[in-house]
Amino acid sequence: MKLWEKGTNPEPVIIEFTAGMDRQTDLVFAKWDIIGSMAHVIMLQSAGLVSADEKTKMLHSLRSLFKLDEKGELVIEDGVEDIHSQIEKDMSLVLGPAGKKIHTGRSRNDQVLVDIRLYMREEIDTLAMQVQMLFTKLQELSERHSEILLPGYTHMQSAMVSSFGLWFGSWAECLADDIVMLAAARAVNNQNPLGTAAGYGTTLPIDRKMTSELLGFDNTLYNSAYAGVSRGKIEMATASALASIAQTLSRFSMDICIYMSSEYKFVDFPDELVTGSSIMPQKRNPDVFELIRGRCNLIQTLSGQVAILAGNLQSGYNRDLQLLKKLIFDAFREVKECISVMLMMINNIRIRENITESATYNAIFSTEAANRLVKQGVPFRDAYKTVSEMVKNTSFQKTAPSDYTHEGSIGNLCNKEIALLFETRMKPFKNTSAQEFVNKLMEHADDVN
Ligand code: ARG
Repeated sequence: MKLWEKGTNPEPVIIEFTAGMDRQTDLVFAKWDIIGSMAHVIMLQSAGLVSADEKTKMLHSLRSLFKLDEKGELVIEDGVEDIHSQIEKDMSLVLGPAGKKIHTGRSRNDQVLVDIRLYMREEIDTLAMQVQMLFTKLQELSERHSEILLPGYTHMQSAMVSSFGLWFGSWAECLADDIVMLAAARAVNNQNPLGTAAGYGTTLPIDRKMTSELLGFDNTLYNSAYAGVSRGKIEMATASALASIAQTLSRFSMDICIYMSSEYKFVDFPDELVTGSSIMPQKRNPDVFELIRGRCNLIQTLSGQVAILAGNLQSGYNRDLQLLKKLIFDAFREVKECISVMLMMINNIRIRENITESATYNAIFSTEAANRLVKQGVPFRDAYKTVSEMVKNTSFQKTAPSDYTHEGSIGNLCNKEIALLFETRMKPFKNTSAQEFVNKLMEHADDVN
């Protein structure tokens, strides 16, 4: 059955090709398709386009489909193109003519946009909570190891005194910025396209504001033609936010790979968390971090794919857009998997103390030696020359590090300030479950008491 069948039999090869992965991908957001339809039906009744009895029957039928989906038993049958067609088919089968009214005043173009937006909103909210857990863990490690020194690097050469406090804390603050990107993606995403139909509205007297409220959207996406164009744009905003998080995970992983190497040995993990080699008995490999690095680097290519796919389309719906779904679903799954594994690993990270006591790192104390002279009134350039002479002729003696007082230095990490920033930036994220939406929408069924 095709929603658009008009008497001729569609060629099966064409149907299979155009449906593509939809029978699998659409199940990912099936529950949101159902919830979007519930809100739509409630609105149709208030606009006088379906009767109260029809609305109630449709709500019950949709709730049964929701339950079926919860049990993992909702399927898109062979020969049915997508979730939108399946739901309409199932409803019509049970309700007859009332079921066939579900598509009044909408198109699959706005319907799929609603589904993607509701799906992404939930994913973004879950991801934000996960990022928060990682942030909290990193801050905890930063505080716990705030006194343990570490060489800081520039040009991959040891440069100045750093600390585990500064290092862990840096990745936490990095996540605080990633959260800004995620909140921006949420804001762009959380607007209601329902009722824009194929991209040009409808002559039926629908109430778009009502569905915006019922579905928890921040506002209505007004211009019908823009709603169509927004497909590709919301994915772009989301892909950028995912890329930002992925970049943090990837670069942090790269540091860990280096710090775990036999030359550095700054950090280590319990035996159960490292991998070995089939031939070299001594190996303790950081495969987990290499894979986080690799996977997160690939996630960063997503925005390029969205740009290529959506960048040259005429405004209005184009079927190319269908291909975005799998890319986005996979990216969310990948980022979430990487964060959970990362959390598990750093929960067990072991830190080497006394690293900077080795003579190898003597010279990283030279900038502060020059600063000590500056404090005695020596111009910096002269102090620099004096100390570099000492380093050159090996007479330079390091002293205990001191005097890091400014905000964001090893002596003053400002973790509390960063935590406050993070907390403020978390405000836009909420987490209303699909079940809660269903419960609320079912209150509109007239036989519910
Ligand atoms: N499967 C389609 C997609 O994801 C749904 C919209 C189909 N609309 C259409 N006009 N063919 O884009």
